[in-house]
Parts: sequence; structure tokens; C-alpha cells
Amino acid sequence: MSIARRRIVRWLTMGFGACFALLPQGWQRVFAQGKAEKIGTIAELEKAGFLSGKLADKTPVLVFRDPKDKTKLVAFDATCSHAGCASDFKDGTIICPCHGSRFGLDGSVSRGPARQPLKSLTVKVEGEAVLVSV
Ligand code: FES
Repeated sequence: MSIARRRIVRWLTMGFGACFALLPQGWQRVFAQGKAEKIGTIAELEKAGFLSGKLADKTPVLVFRDPKDKTKLVAFDATCSHAGCASDFKDGTIICPCHGSRFGLDGSVSRGPARQPLKSLTVKVEGEAVLVSV
């Protein structure tokens, strides 16, 4: 490859990288779809009863054992469907601290004002790592 061509390729690569860094979160999420990110380990999940964390695009995540089948895991985007606050796991339920909505461990609304369930995310285990993707 000629030097001029290398420079062009380098500038294009840097340009695309800079453009991606400047994209709003929603667009970063679109490009990051399917990329699994480590939220914790199985040992941490067993100890605490759940995992919480954030994806690279700052999406808050909660992971539990599936209440219907304890051999499986379920993961949710913990962003409350009412007004977007990050929900948390407390006293066996998912609670939004902003206006008190509650969600079941299947993501369904058990108490408003939220009307829509939490969004399910894809979760898998690789070795000890619990990986979540949008
Ligand atoms: S933002 Fe969660 S209840 Fe309002």
C-alpha cells in the first residue's frame, strides 16, 4: 500500500472513530447491539441474589435467576418505563426510586405509575462471567 493510501485509510479510520464517539447514546446503542458485556460473575449473582451494573452506553442492567426456571437467567434494562429513572432491586422486587413503580422479576409492572414492563435484555453465561447485550 502506498504512503498516500495509508494516510487516507488512517484519516478515514480516525474520522469514523471520532464520529462514533460524538454520536448520541441512542445511536451508539444501535451500533453496539448484540455486543455482550460482562455484568458480573455467577458467584456474585449467587451471593447477592442478583446482579446490577451498566452497559457501556450507560444502560442500567439487572440480572436474576428466572423465577420460573432457576437454571436460567433473565436480564432487564432497569430504566423505568414511566420517566426513565434507574430502578433497583430491593426486598425481593424491582423498585423505581423516583415515583415508586414496582416491577416483578419477569419485568412486568406490579405497581404504577409505570404502565409498560421493563425491557428484556439478552443474557448468557460464559465460564463464570454473566454477559448481557441489548
Ligand atoms: S420514573 Fe419510575 S416511577 Fe416514575
